Formats: sequence, structure tokens, C-alpha cells
Amino acid sequence: MKKVVSTRQLPKSNQPFQLETLEFGRAPTQQEILKVARDAWGLVTTLEDKMNQQLLEQLPNLKAIAQFAVGTNNIDLDFCRAHKIIVTNTPDVLTEATAELTFALMLNCARQIHRAAPDVSKGKWIGWEPMGHLGIALKNKKLGIIGAGRIGQRIAEMARGAFDMQILYHNRKANLHFEKKNQAKLIGFEQLLTESDVVVLMTPLTPETRSLINQKQLLMMKKDAILINTSRGEIINQADLIEVLKADHLFAVGLDVTTPEPLPLNSPLNSVERVLITPHIGSATREARAQMAQLCFDNLKLISENKAPLTSV
Ligand code: DGY
Repeated sequence: MKKVVSTRQLPKSNQPFQLETLEFGRAPTQQEILKVARDAWGLVTTLEDKMNQQLLEQLPNLKAIAQFAVGTNNIDLDFCRAHKIIVTNTPDVLTEATAELTFALMLNCARQIHRAAPDVSKGKWIGWEPMGHLGIALKNKKLGIIGAGRIGQRIAEMARGAFDMQILYHNRKANLHFEKKNQAKLIGFEQLLTESDVVVLMTPLTPETRSLINQKQLLMMKKDAILINTSRGEIINQADLIEVLKADHLFAVGLDVTTPEPLPLNSPLNSVERVLITPHIGSATREARAQMAQLCFDNLKLISENKAPLTSV
């Protein structure tokens, strides 16, 4: 039976392997992974495991890595390709969950629920006010999606269906089916930033997208715009974001991802009230996480039978 090591405890799945699970309740260190995985045939990893050359070189039997996420920026894919280690990820099964969380952040930012609710629980709310707790309506506003992949497209559908939002998108390639279905308009990156009322970052982290949004881009956005990032923290230059927020630019920011994660308690971002930060929970529904786990093991099983995995990277 092939040995597979999972770096974290996962939802229960059907799987035919000699499975060893690291149960630290946190991301293991590279040394901790090595201790158990030195002779492993397969690994199930998460975005917190730094699968770099230094570690991979010490895993001579490794033939497959099933990443329990869609993003694979923590894995040295060039090394894997060169050493015939097959890498898989978990697209599709987390699309709905991540789109829903993105939408939750959008609504929360627009209505500032995270600031209003504690006024009640902390006894600060003294009564209904005509001008109190004013948010921004989403209906008919322009939603700019940077990276209209599966999740970006699902967010567009939700925004059209529920709020009649106008959809602008920026992508490497035009998607005519998506445009027709959602009356979406493909526009340039800078035009999207200047025209959108809500900007959603849905692009994977690559050398090209690292720090894609820095001070210049943030200042191009409308003063009352909302910025949402459920992709990877490094896509935004966080120091620039803090400066821009201090200068009273942007209505609100919703971040499910930051640099680093977890964000240190003393980060200035934590004290900007119109910023809402969640702990990287895009795919965190029971349904999505169960399907992600099963997909990881289904992929590993196919690879072990010398068949093509369902979702290789
Ligand atoms: C992903 O899949 O890349 C998410 O960020 C983690 O669920």
C-alpha cells in the first residue's frame, strides 16, 4: 500500500492508502513534515506548507502532491515538473463557497455590519438615527472583477442576479460566453479601477500579480469604492493600502487574505474600522471542505493507478 502523508487533519474521505496525518493543529514545520514523509509516495498539502526545493529534494520517493486548495503558490512547480512529481489542486468544488464569502464581504463592507453590530452588543446604540450607520447600496453599481476565472464568473452571476450590478472584468483572455450571460464588459486594468464601485481581486498569485495593486492603483480607484480580496494577500501592497486608507481614500476594504497570515495583532490594518478582515475562510464551508478532501484522495488514487488525475496543475 502506498504511503501518503497529510500535513493536516482533513474531513473524512474514502481512500485506499496507508495514510499518516500530522496532527499538530497548526501547519507543521518542514522538519516535522520530513520526519514522517521522508519515504512517502504522496503528500496532501495546504497553502501553509512551503514545498520548496530544499524540502522536496529530501523526499526521494515522492510522486504526487495533492494540494488541498486551488492556489499552488506554496509549491515549487518547476522542481515538481523537472522531477516528475504530479501536482493536483481542488478547483470547482470550492467555487461556490469562495464566491459566497466574497459576496458576504461585499455586503458587509457596503453596509458596515461589522461596525454596526458591536454598537448593539457594547451598548453604544442609543436609538434609531436618520443619518446613523449609513452604508452604500450595491444595486446597479459597477462591479469590477480582476481575474474572471470560475470564482470570478460565479460572483458576477450573483451580482447580476441579486443586485443588477453592471459587470466589468479584466482578464488575459476575453470570455464571450461569460460576457453574454452576464452582460459583462472586458476593459483595461486601469479603466476597471477608475470606473468600478466595487473591485474584486480574483487573480492567482504569480510573479506578475504580486503587488499588482499598489499606491498608484489604489489612488486610481473612486474615493468611495470598496475593495475586496479573497485571492492572495500578496496581490495588494499592504503598506500602500494602509497609507491610502489613512488618507481617507476608499469607503471600505474586505480582506480574506493578508500578508502575512495570520496578520500580527499590531498591524495598522487592524485598527482601521472600515476594514473587515476574515481568517482566510473562502473555502470554509462543510460542503466545500469535504469535497476538497475527497478530490485530493481521488486524484492520488488515479495517479497511483497510472491514470490521469481529475485536476492536475
Ligand atoms: C485556495 O483554495 O487557494 C484557497 O485560498 C484556500 O481555500
